[in-house]
Amino acid sequence: MTEHVITAVDGPILTLTLNRPDKKNALTNAMYGVLADALAQADQDDRIRCVILAGNGDSFTAGNDLADFMSIAQGRGPSVRHVARFLDALALADKPIVAAVQGLAVGIGTTMLLHCDVVCVTPQTRLTTPFVNLALVPEAASSLLLQARIGYARAFGMITMGDAIDGATAVQWGLARECVAPGELADRTRAIAGEIAAKPLGAVRASKRLMRDGALIASIMRRESDVFAERLASPEAREAFQAFAEKRKPDFLSLACAPHSG
Ligand code: COA
Repeated sequence: MTEHVITAVDGPILTLTLNRPDKKNALTNAMYGVLADALAQADQDDRIRCVILAGNGDSFTAGNDLADFMSIAQGRGPSVRHVARFLDALALADKPIVAAVQGLAVGIGTTMLLHCDVVCVTPQTRLTTPFVNLALVPEAASSLLLQARIGYARAFGMITMGDAIDGATAVQWGLARECVAPGELADRTRAIAGEIAAKPLGAVRASKRLMRDGALIASIMRRESDVFAERLASPEAREAFQAFAEKRKPDFLSLACAPHSG
């Protein structure tokens, strides 16, 4: 539903606010669609000189909606999925993107930050990419970009062990630019966006293009997406999503044992 993403233009700044706080801003297919459209329009609209990504409530986002994942795993997914369009629009965006990240940023909530140009966090921010805990694999080119940013050992810890990174550590590891008090996050983000918006846009866009290898990122995302789709359809993933819905821990061991037990 479109009210789950608030789109607001203030002068040269477009703010996209995730607005599903009762579900920790978990991202549905419809939300990806709105975000993809808004980012694509922003790239075409000369009046927009900077984009802010933010979330309402206590979390940035709990990542992809797990009920949506379950529907896909059961073959009941939507006929048109918007997530790839969102990731393409984000990863290939020429306009600068500033993210305001309070509380939890899970899965794609963290990997999307690898495509933002300025990331502001608070001491309470928790970045996690627990893909393997959900029997999934990294997406949004994070299989390459995360380790390029923070090194393989830390990236493996986040993706495979589910390590959570707090705001101060995010700055220390180069995942975020600034860690500010929660009450200052919105103002600080707007101030940074305003500062960027006042810069010569042609030079900002050209610099972004030089600093990001769009073709490489797009090809990695395609590769990840094939494996991700396979994993989504796996019994392991179904068990992970079912366990979340039933508020219990997943049991992967009995799955692994099944072929040998009969
Ligand atoms: N998809 C769908 N619903 C989600 C969600 C998600 N990714 N994350 C949270 N929610 C829902 C919960 O089901 C709950 O709904 P309910 O009130 O109807 O039961 C509500 O949001 C609040 O979440 P809750 O689990 O009660 O809050 P918490 O503070 O105890 O835990 C999280 C927050 C984010 C740690 C926990 O909800 C979680 O682990 N979510 C899944 C995150 C995830 O794996 N995302 C995908 C990554 S690829």
